[in-house]
Amino acid sequence: MSHYFARPVLASSMARQLIHPDVLSEGFRSGLFMSGQRRTGKTTFLHNDLIPALEREGALVIYVDLWSDTRANPAQLVRDAIRDALAQLQTPGSSLLARLSRVSGVDVGALSFKFGFKLEKIGETGGPPLSQVMTELVDQARRDVVLIVDEVQQAITTDEGKQLLVALKSARDAVNPRPGSVGHFIFIGTGSHRAMVSELTARRTQAFSGAQSIPYPVLDADYTADLLAHLHHTGVPNLPSHEVVLAAFRTLGQRPEELLKALRQVQLHTPAGQDPDGYLPVVAATLRAAAADIELAKVEQLGRLASAVFEWIAAAEGDARGIFSAEAAAHYSRVLGREVKVEEIGPVVNELMASNLILRRAHGLYVVADPAVRETWREKQQLLG
Ligand SMILES: Nc1ncnc2c1ncn2[C@@H]1O[C@H](COP(=O)(O)OP(=O)(O)OP(=O)(O)O)[C@@H](O)[C@H]1O
Ligand SMILES: [Mg+2]
Repeated sequence: MSHYFARPVLASSMARQLIHPDVLSEGFRSGLFMSGQRRTGKTTFLHNDLIPALEREGALVIYVDLWSDTRANPAQLVRDAIRDALAQLQTPGSSLLARLSRVSGVDVGALSFKFGFKLEKIGETGGPPLSQVMTELVDQARRDVVLIVDEVQQAITTDEGKQLLVALKSARDAVNPRPGSVGHFIFIGTGSHRAMVSELTARRTQAFSGAQSIPYPVLDADYTADLLAHLHHTGVPNLPSHEVVLAAFRTLGQRPEELLKALRQVQLHTPAGQDPDGYLPVVAATLRAAAADIELAKVEQLGRLASAVFEWIAAAEGDARGIFSAEAAAHYSRVLGREVKVEEIGPVVNELMASNLILRRAHGLYVVADPAVRETWREKQQLLG
């Protein structure tokens, strides 16, 4: 039962703000970063809604996913994507050339690209800087060029990736401020790691300090209503009411796959005589706890100190403070039954952050990354008394 809920209005409005910004949205030209929880539909939104909307506004879009190959160097993946785009623009019959012809309304035959550098030199020492590459690309395409990097936080995990972000920022600063420019270079980064993605724009030391950072607009009531209508239409039995489906969707962290799983269980296993409205909330709560258990098992795998630090954070009301304090160290020591030194804490906190289990909200303030995981942990504590 494949079902896709399109969001053309939302996508068009975002695309317009990026390509034809008014005074208030001009900041988007400094870069746009979007972050949201895992499996909530970010990549799907980029491919099915935002990229087509950007193309309708006449932009040339280059997309690269830094998780497409987690062993590869993120900087290399971005450069490969740019090089591949340029190569396609010089290849008659390529799909990118066809797309450019479509968005520009210019006949494919009339499009020709000649760059003042060798493509294979991009990214090599002595090769053209990205600012030159992007300037030539924008000038010859005669339109805005949008580079979308999915899972952009991967870039700050390596020094080369950080240098790449600096190079992209210089490209932006080389292309955009030119008076009478035929186009702009716009950078969009998305990712699942909220703390790291927002850090990219917040920290003065980061390349994109000053760019906009927004939460990914999650699917909500109009998605569940559309899904339910689709299921009714296809004659699926045992369907709960919309109110209950929406509540279940929110319980499940607004993740389409989890909701479909829950609805499938309801369809197949609602006990005879029971109302699906009564059964779906139970199924949703169970699925959510099962998903949270997987996360909690990851904490355990990181060791006992990681568990103690995680518990300090999960137990706090609101943001946890002082996780590196002497008081915290004394607490961890009691839990572990051995002395824990303050300098042991940092690496463990980094591991918890790298696994997306906790995140730093601001200097010195930490929270459990997924609120559902925190609640499940708390419920377990209560059961243990
Ligand atoms: N608008 C939508 N309508 C229906 N299903 C959707 C929609 N958006 C996403 N989904 C479904 O949700 C699941 C997750 O989508 P997607 O991979 O885009 O999420 P993501 O946030 O990029 O995940 P990840 O954190 O793994 O990168 C997929 O199975 C996808 O088909
Ligand atoms: Mg994704």
